[in-house]
Amino acid sequence: MLIRKPAVIRPSAITPRETYFNRRELLRAAMLAGGAAFGGPALSAALPDGKRARLDDIKSSRFSTDEELNSYTDVTTYNNYYEFGTSKSDPFRNAQDFEARPWTIRVSGHAEKTGVFDLEDFIRPYDLEERIYRLRCVERWSMVIPWVGVSLAEIVKRHQPLSNAKYVRFETLLDPKQMPGQRYRTLDWPYVEGLTIAEATHPLAILAVGVYGEVLPNQNGAPIRLVVPWKYGFKGIKGIVSMEFTEKRPIGSWERAAPNEYGFYANVNPNVDHPRWSQARERRIGASGGTGFQSLLGASMQDTLMFNGYGEQVAHLYDGLDLRRNF
Ligand code: MTE
Repeated sequence: MLIRKPAVIRPSAITPRETYFNRRELLRAAMLAGGAAFGGPALSAALPDGKRARLDDIKSSRFSTDEELNSYTDVTTYNNYYEFGTSKSDPFRNAQDFEARPWTIRVSGHAEKTGVFDLEDFIRPYDLEERIYRLRCVERWSMVIPWVGVSLAEIVKRHQPLSNAKYVRFETLLDPKQMPGQRYRTLDWPYVEGLTIAEATHPLAILAVGVYGEVLPNQNGAPIRLVVPWKYGFKGIKGIVSMEFTEKRPIGSWERAAPNEYGFYANVNPNVDHPRWSQARERRIGASGGTGFQSLLGASMQDTLMFNGYGEQVAHLYDGLDLRRNF
């Protein structure tokens, strides 16, 4: 696959890495000075609106990787979001005018607390955490992204699923007026994804509302998207408007489109090939040698890790499952 860079990158879209790190250190110092120790009381500040608005009171997470971050430009201009087109630069180009507010999320199905919630009520009281996770796409590329999000487990628990709730099914907004890709039947719209309850209540799973200390850009799934770091990126559904507790296993959009290629489990697994290519290695986007001639020589390729490196934490979720069949 060719790694294409968009022709136009606004200068304002580029945060130099040093600036970002300085800001993070300042924020951390301010939090400590103000007594907002990690693990303190939940925060209730409003979630800011507006492009590139800063998120405050972000806690750091022990789950973060210390690998080198991809740049803000990599993260926000090389995307998959078929609602805005099928090429990697389409979401950045076509999602700029998308209106991510006001936003509501419908919670339905087998749970005590169902209803339609305003975004802020849905994630409140929230502890915003920065989680630096790899995103490993099934297309054999990866990035390291400083997400900002809330624990999905906490949200799921707050809605009190009933004993017959075995899965959580998510849906993206359906709005062909705003999402030009939905005018074509590239996928069966709206985009759907699902997790088992055990996956959804694992502490590594988050609903992200930001990246690089700022609100989520539209192309990354504003205002709220799923991030499940041990799974292939396609499980990370964007622009979520519905969360349903189901007894039956949901069928995600990719599984519906090509069931032999995209399984429900979709754990990052170097030992199970995609029907059309090996998953043993991956290309780190933006890594030295990641573009141009060097990349053709494989300089930015690296071994893919089982469960994307989170085996110790998540392997038990799949005890007894044949991961070759449940791919
Ligand atoms: N969510 C929706 N609604 N539509 C999509 O096309 N693409 C998925 C996932 N979530 C997709 C989606 C795929 S294939 C990947 S790899 C990730 O989003 C990419 O996330 P990123 O663009 O923020 O890196």
